Amino acid sequence: MKDHLARCVAEAYAQALPHRGSGRVADYIPALAKADPNRFGFALALPDGTVHTAGDADEPFSLQSVSKVFTLALALRRVGSALWGSVGREPSGSAFNSIVQLESEGGLPRNPLINAGAIATSDRLIDARSADAVVNEILDFVRARAGDASIAIDPEVAVSESETGARNRALAHFMASFGTLRHPVETVLSVYFRQCAIAMNCRQLARAGLFLAMGGRDPLTGEQLIEPHRARRINAIMMLCGHYDNSGEFAFRVGLPGKSGVGGGILCIAPGQGSIAVWSPGLTEAGTSLVGAIALEHFACAAGWSVF
Ligand code: DON
Repeated sequence: MKDHLARCVAEAYAQALPHRGSGRVADYIPALAKADPNRFGFALALPDGTVHTAGDADEPFSLQSVSKVFTLALALRRVGSALWGSVGREPSGSAFNSIVQLESEGGLPRNPLINAGAIATSDRLIDARSADAVVNEILDFVRARAGDASIAIDPEVAVSESETGARNRALAHFMASFGTLRHPVETVLSVYFRQCAIAMNCRQLARAGLFLAMGGRDPLTGEQLIEPHRARRINAIMMLCGHYDNSGEFAFRVGLPGKSGVGGGILCIAPGQGSIAVWSPGLTEAGTSLVGAIALEHFACAAGWSVF
């Protein structure tokens, strides 16, 4: 069985490899524009601790919106269902940084995975603490999940995010005008920008996602991190919202919950089975890794993994 999955990883990697270099590297955050579109990594983490990798699986990349999944889990753990007073759980059908729905929907973002929703989620996670304390909590969480204490924020990306963060500032101030946020805009954004700038590689990210595949329990440490029903619900949100206006296409092609980031990473969860991280910086229009999505489609097909 394990050999079979190792073969599926190798096959998915080989099938996607010819597409390497296609897609557009994100350049609206200048520090991300330096990424090499020819990089491509794949890692599959299994609950017994096995990790199968291919390509640049040990090369760190910027987590970007993939981080939203971890802050969602932490916010749900901290404030429970009260989170849903600040953010909805419906697909937006809009771009990740869109502001339009906020105006007619009372400043309440559609879901925690679009930028506005992730900013509102980080606001709830702060829960009257300092921004630094919350960033440390997020870092400690991903370090513990990945079993690697060296995971850190890329300071250049963090500064670049903030310097070019006009759109996110607009979203945050707009929400603040409706009373959605409980903390000052700059405090909330200082968490959000830094969570996006966490650098991880595919091997670390795949391991870090395992708790979502295993009912909220980290199979590597044995800790029950969040309640099983919350893990199920995070997966449901990833399936419906993880790729913004491309979420339907991703569900159609891959059939597993996933979350993309403009750094080119995708975290994909196979409930009960494992966690997959892919990375290749060339993006589709919706900000999903083009080669990464192709690889995941081939992997899911070869392994026969689907939630449907
Ligand atoms: O806030 C932003 O625009 C970026 N830090 C993250 C956006 C992102 O990754 C969108 N996902 N595909």
